[in-house]
Amino acid sequence: MFKQQYEAYRQLVEKYLAQLPWDESLICNSMNYSLTAGGKRIRPVLALACIELVGGQGLDFIREVVALELIHTYSLVHDDLPAMDDDDFRRGKPSNHKVFGEATAILAGDALLTYAFELLAQPSSTPPEKQLRVIRETAKAAGWQGMIGGQVLDTLGSGQEYTLADIENIHRQKTGALLVASARLGAILGGGTEDQIEQISHYATLLGLAFQIKDDILDISSEQAILGKPVGSDLKQDKKTFVSLLGLTHAEKRLAETVAAAKCCLEDFQDGAQFLLSLADYIAQRNT
Ligand code: IPE
Ligand code: IPE
Ligand code: MG
Ligand code: MG
Ligand code: MG
Repeated sequence: MFKQQYEAYRQLVEKYLAQLPWDESLICNSMNYSLTAGGKRIRPVLALACIELVGGQGLDFIREVVALELIHTYSLVHDDLPAMDDDDFRRGKPSNHKVFGEATAILAGDALLTYAFELLAQPSSTPPEKQLRVIRETAKAAGWQGMIGGQVLDTLGSGQEYTLADIENIHRQKTGALLVASARLGAILGGGTEDQIEQISHYATLLGLAFQIKDDILDISSEQAILGKPVGSDLKQDKKTFVSLLGLTHAEKRLAETVAAAKCCLEDFQDGAQFLLSLADYIAQRNT
């Protein structure tokens, strides 16, 4: 049931991505290369599920949820650059800069980010104040107060003595912020009450933390052929992660606790939250 629903959401995303109006230019090829290289599409899937949790129709907001995937993909293109994690493989293929060169990869990232906001800002039947709220919140989550803030601490802090609280803070920003923004975008556009939006935000905050703890675990315990990106990237860069600080067993325990706490946030939604409860389990159990 969960798998089928996930697949149905993912198909909506793939279909929309496949009809974006790219031209034959190098920059479009580069953007499209990373976008269509694969990927779990967790952020748009989370947003679609939150739209439907509060009674909306996912398909009505497919353009907005796809914008989240553009922002995420840009972050991966830049994250892999030599000046950052210096990783040559992503989504089972050579990283964008290995195919198109660093300059084009940087520009493709820039173009994906700006195009995402073009999609979010397009005329729609959403009341303007709601649309503006979504744009503002998404921008804040992607920027210096969110994902970029986390990437700065993660990248420039390599080798520093971070505490567990520091790592948690980095994870909340670099990965959690966009997941929270995705859930909120869904809850806001879907017509959720302020109470519902808050509950969904709490869930997504913990989901985001769990997501990055699992990412850290996979970085030392998986294989490139399965993961689609290099393993040992964090060790190579001397990144401080949940695993480097706690060890694998305690990181696993922390992951399970975080997933359980995330699920508790959705109690008020009762049976309607089944997909999102399963999504939390999937995030802990995934091997890619
Ligand atoms: C990887 O994200 C980067 C992190 C924020 C941990 P995903 O694991 O969602 O990557 P894709 O989109 O499936 O490739
Ligand atoms: C990246 O974290 C978070 C982003 C904002 C892209 P990681 O550097 O751990 O992501 P992976 O492991 O390369 O996918
Ligand atoms: Mg990184
Ligand atoms: Mg990386
Ligand atoms: Mg990682």
